[in-house]
This record gives sequence, C-alpha cells and structure tokens, in this order.
Amino acid sequence: MNHFLDIHKTDPAALRAIIDNAAAMKSARKGHARGAPDDEQPLSGHMVALIFEKPSTRTRVSFDVGVRQMGGQTMLLSGTDMQLGHGETIADTACVLSRYVDLIMIRTFDESVLDEMAEYADVPVINGLTDRTHPCQIMADILTYEEHRGPIKGKKVVWSGDGNNVCASFLHAAAQFGFDLTFTGPAQLDPEAEFVALARKAGSNIQIERDPRKAVVGADLVVTDTWVSMHDTQSAKERRHNMLRPYQVNDALMALAKPDALFMHCLPAHREEEATSAVMDGPHSVVFDEAENRLHAQKAVVRWCLGL
Ligand code: CP
Ligand code: NVA
Repeated sequence: MNHFLDIHKTDPAALRAIIDNAAAMKSARKGHARGAPDDEQPLSGHMVALIFEKPSTRTRVSFDVGVRQMGGQTMLLSGTDMQLGHGETIADTACVLSRYVDLIMIRTFDESVLDEMAEYADVPVINGLTDRTHPCQIMADILTYEEHRGPIKGKKVVWSGDGNNVCASFLHAAAQFGFDLTFTGPAQLDPEAEFVALARKAGSNIQIERDPRKAVVGADLVVTDTWVSMHDTQSAKERRHNMLRPYQVNDALMALAKPDALFMHCLPAHREEEATSAVMDGPHSVVFDEAENRLHAQKAVVRWCLGL
C-alpha cells in the first residue's frame, strides 16, 4: 500500500513513473469529451473519500472528475460535517473509513492530522494540502513544465514571495527531480530551514536571494502564490502585503528571466497582488495548464497508491 504524503517521502523512481503515466493518460484522452470515461477503467468498483477541512475548487473538482473518468466513485466529505470535526479521533475516523472506502484524500490544517490518518488507515492516504505542504500541486506543475519545455532536471526555478506550503513542496521536488531553486522573499517569510537543508543535502542548488531582480536572472520558471494562505491569520494580512509587495511578479520582473521562461501560479490568484494580470494572462503564463494537469497528475497518483 502506497500513501502519497509528500514528495520527499516518495521514491524518485515512483515520482517519475507517476509523471510519465499522467502524460500517457492525458494523451490517451485526446478527443474525449470532458465527462467521458477513459478507455481503461482501472478504478471500476472503487470508492474514494475526499475530505476537505479547508475550501477548494481545483483539488476538489479534479480528484472527483479524475476518479470518475477512471471508473471509480467518490464521496465528498466536509470536515465540519463529519464527527471528525466534533471530537471523534483521527485514528478512529481512519479505521472506520477504511471499512468503507478504498482510498482517502484529505485536505487539512496541521500535518499531524494527515500523518495520523495514514498511520491508522488500512487504505492509501493522499495529501490534498496541509499548512506545510501541497505535493499534488507540484506533481501537476512538473508535468506542466515538461510538457512545454522538456525535462526539468538542471533547470532554474525561482520562487518569488511567501515561502509557504506550495514553496515547500517545490523544495522537495527540487531534490527529487534534480532542479535548482532560488527563493526570493522577505527573511520573515523564508521557507522552513529544515526543507532547505533537506534539498541541499540531496544535492540541489538552493539559493536565497533578497533582491527579486537578481533572483530571476537566468530563470527557466518563475513561480508565486497568494500572499495570505488559508491557514494564515487575516490580522497579519496588511503586514504580509507590505513585506511582499516588492516580490510581485510583473512584466518588469519577467523581462529579467530567460526569454522563454514559464510563469506558474497554483491558483487561486489575487490579481495585481502577487502577480499582475499582464503576467497571468501573458505569453509566459501556463496557469490554466497547471490547473488542468491537477486532473491528470492526480489520476496517476491515485493509480500508484492503489497499485492499479
Ligand atoms: N491549487 C489548489 O489547490 O486550488 P484549490 O484550493 O482550489 O484546490
Ligand atoms: N498557499 C495556499 C495554496 C492554496 C492552493 C494556501 O495554503 O492557502
């Protein structure tokens, strides 16, 4: 049984197989209507629980559609509507769900909830975002980069803004897929030192550069995300905005990257804050390809988890 908890906890060969399988499944669907089933139905007879303790558009819809395309069924569960949100332990919830469903995807706050779910469940558990990481997003982003530009190995990725959960999974991916990553943002919002050390130990070139204009020179890919994540307190919003304003991705910043650099954002975006509409809708942007590829990448993750 394979859990998909984090990119750094998954074997690099498995990660590569997932990306390749995602690309193959995407290609096999060419010409199909969005709601049409895949030609292969590996999830036939399988039930997947999708638990959300935070809001979601992409994760929710892409997992739901993806499982159905592969012949499986889904059950969307909101944390607050479950007994989980009213005092039942995570361990008991994991044991109970394991009697009904074949796989659990959970989006939660504290990483310990995900880990405990995986520890007690008899079925695979997928991380659909925690306060600390967002591995499914980065699998879609790797797929997107490679579709447009070929292998990501050896490329320079620049993260501009908050060193948050999505940035953390990019650091994990740098180590596993062999690309370089430069973080540019205020020192107060640096990525976790533990994750930076982990990537460096694995041989990745991880740089911290406070000047965004210096950071993006030579970038093959520029990435940003919201300045205020779902787990951040709203009271910190103004302070974070003030700190992060110099790290906005705009045309002037993109002009300093390589001419064929891509721009990514996991979405939802706050236009004219972390990135301008000119960049979001401009020639470098692949943000909607990333969103589409959540579907294809996660289908491959689900199949890997279930060994199907
Ligand atoms: N990128 C992402 O995970 O989006 P949602 O919050 O809409 O799921
Ligand atoms: N960093 C964001 C990502 C949303 C997909 C958050 O956690 O809110």
